[in-house]
Parts: sequence; C-alpha cells; structure tokens
Amino acid sequence: NHPFTVNEQGHLEIGGLDSVTLAKKYGTPLYVYDVQMIRDNCRAFVNTFQNMGVTAKVAYASKAFSSIAMVQVIKQEGMYLDVVSEGELYTALHAGYPTEKIHFHGNNKSIAELRMAIEHNIGCIVVDNFQEIKHIRSLLKTYDKQMDVLMRVTPGIESKTHHYIMTGNEDSKFGFNLQNGQAETAFLQMHNDPYIRFQGLHCHIGSQIFETDRFILATSVLFQELRTWKERHGYTPNVLNLGGGYGIRYTKDDAPISYAPFVEELVNEVQKQVEALAIPMPEIWLEPGRAIAGNAGITLYTVGAMKEIPGIRNYVAVDGGMTDNLRPALYQAKYEAVLANKAAAPTETNVSIAGKCCESGDMLIWDLPLPHVSQNDILAVFSTGAYGYSMANHYNRFAKPAVVFVENGEDKLVVQRETYQDIIRHDLSYE
Ligand code: LLP
Repeated sequence: NHPFTVNEQGHLEIGGLDSVTLAKKYGTPLYVYDVQMIRDNCRAFVNTFQNMGVTAKVAYASKAFSSIAMVQVIKQEGMYLDVVSEGELYTALHAGYPTEKIHFHGNNKSIAELRMAIEHNIGCIVVDNFQEIKHIRSLLKTYDKQMDVLMRVTPGIESKTHHYIMTGNEDSKFGFNLQNGQAETAFLQMHNDPYIRFQGLHCHIGSQIFETDRFILATSVLFQELRTWKERHGYTPNVLNLGGGYGIRYTKDDAPISYAPFVEELVNEVQKQVEALAIPMPEIWLEPGRAIAGNAGITLYTVGAMKEIPGIRNYVAVDGGMTDNLRPALYQAKYEAVLANKAAAPTETNVSIAGKCCESGDMLIWDLPLPHVSQNDILAVFSTGAYGYSMANHYNRFAKPAVVFVENGEDKLVVQRETYQDIIRHDLSYE
C-alpha cells in the first residue's frame, strides 16, 4: 500500500533504486527520500489553486524536515517556506531561499530572531502574542522598515489527533484567543501601526488531521471574527492563512486526505463566506509540512539482536530507534515496515521492533508481521519523511544518521552521517 516497488531480486526500491544497495553504500540507519514524491506533493497543492484560478501561497512547513537540500527542492518548486526559528531561517538563507518567500512563525520569538527576520526582509511575520507585537513595533520603527504581518489566532476547535499536536483548542499556548476579545485588541494595536502592514489572520488547528470538516469549521470561525471587525472597524483581510496539519497514511488504518478535492472544498467554503460578508476574496495561504515530506521518506535499519520470550513476544532490535524517530515514544505513533531484502517473501512471523536506546519505551513498531527475520536483514520503515530527522536527537550519544535523496535513478548524499567527533564537538575538558 506504500508507493514503493519491489525489484527482481525481491528488494524494496525507492525512486527506482535498490534500497538494500543504498543501505550497503551509506550504512544504516539511513533516511532515504524519493524527491519526485516531494515534488508531486508540492504540485498537488499548488496546481489545484492554479486550476481554480485562486490566488494562493503554499508554504512548506520546514519543521517537518529542514536541510539545505530539502529547502532547495522546495525553492525549485516555487513554493513559500515557513520557518519557526533562527535555525530554520539560517538554513533557508544558506540554501539561497528568496527571503521575500519566507514566513516566520513561533510562539516565543526572541528579539534576535525578529531582528534577523527584519534585517533579511523576510516576507511575513506571523505574530503570536502581545509581547511580540510590542517588539515588532519598536524594532520596525528603529529599522524604519515596514513589514507584512499576520496574526495567529486560536479558533477554539478540538481536532481529533494526539493531544500533543492539537493546537486550535482554546487552552493552547499558541496565538490570540478569539473567545475573550484578545484577538480584537491585538488587531487594533497592529491595524493602525505605520510600520506594520497588517495582512490578515492565521490559524493552525493541529497536525495529522483527517477530518476536512475541522478545517472548514476553523474557516467559518475566522469569518465570524472578520464579520465583527468589518462591522466595528471597516476591516477586510488581504490574506487568510489556514495553516497545515493534513494527515498522511502511516498504516492501513489511516485514510489520508486527497489534497486536490480538499483544497477545492476549502476554497469553496472561503468563497461562500466571502460572498456572505460581501468582501473581496483574500489570498489563501496554506502551510503543509507532513503532507509534503512524510510519505516521500523511508528509514532503513539493520537488524541486530533478537530476543524470543516464548508465548509472549519476539523482539527484533535495529540499529536506530527513538534517536532517529521519536514519534512512537512521544505520541505512540504507529508505522508499517517491511524487510527490504525480502520484500517479496510471504509473512510468517509477528515481531516487535525495538530500538537500541536504554529505555523500555524505545519501541518503533509493536506486532509487525514479517517474513522470517535474520540478523543483518534490512528493515525499511515507511512514511518517516516528516518529523523523523527533524526530531532526531543524541540520546545515549548516538550520532544522527545520513540523509540520501533519490531522483532520476540517481542517489545523492544530502546530509552526512554524524561522527563521534561531532558528538563531542562542544564538550570541554575539566582536567
Ligand atoms: N503551520 C503551523 C503553524 C504549525 O504549527 C505546523 C505544525 C504546521 C504548519 C505543519 O503541520 P503539518 O502539516 O506538518 O501537520 N512533531 C509532530 C508534529 C508537530 C507539528 C507542529 N506544527 C509530529 O511528529 O507529529
């Protein structure tokens, strides 16, 4: 069910290349991306807007996976880029991303981050809280620069996803609340500021969401607020940014959103609301992260130790784990996997895939049907392209794996594997 093929040797292919050969060439754990899939995902969003004749900006949420090569692919696709930190911004600048196409998010942007954004003339800052408004106003005045600003609001909507990745509910650390008038107060502070070009509203209701009606509901909540602002202040927005959060398929239990019909549904809703309010159609902005990178990436591991507890469970340990994929430990996220070197063999056993961290919770997959498993088999875990490498960490002082891009039948190393030298790089002696 994953969009990968199997070659004559029975090996899993990614982007037309043998994944077992890639594992040998670059070592494991290894993240491998099919770049054409990244491009296809970008185009599904961008082309639908174009076909509908709607002015839109689709920004890739680079938190899902940021590296110089990834950001360059997004640049080649003509998309916009969402960054949430100095580090993501720095990466984008190094990748030669056009600064006017960068949008800056974050619930606690530092003065240094705001300065960096202003100095590089980035396209838009999405303001999150009252302190930030104050900082932006005074910095823009000092620099004597104007800037496009959106306001992030919390629509008060619960989305059906893991609690940790819900963001649209009223009790959220993100954005200005609509229910208590804080959003309107913030709007008034920015609307008449000579340095702020206040463009409109932003909301992001959460991540890995499948119910399109949640996004429709969020849109209608924004329009309720816009109706008030129109009536009280004569305001009409230039931009409506509806965030990201579109779910992808991790396992057979996930029926992902089909992006083209979804975008059409969203545009139709905005058009309906716009007509009811008798205002011009604003630009629609979206910020998919996972939907762009998630299913384009797989992780390859080598099977090591195996432990059988008769009648209870078969553990199969691989050479990575929560250091390269934190999501199972953090969100109980589920994944599917195959043995890349036995991809055509029938399944005959049920195993649980353990990572190698000193932590019982470091389990990548529980109860995975596989063919007979032997040491040195290559395990390929699907849909690891988003929030895998980007949430990788150094627990137990593991080095972060390499990243390889595959396109047009060629493989290219785009992030080097870390070395132990990298691990101790910042350590200073105490002797
Ligand atoms: N826009 C904003 C303002 C966001 O906060 C996020 C994600 C996105 C866009 C992109 O959401 P996406 O399309 O990728 O769902 N680490 C978690 C996901 C956290 C997402 C945080 N914000 C995970 O691994 O599931």
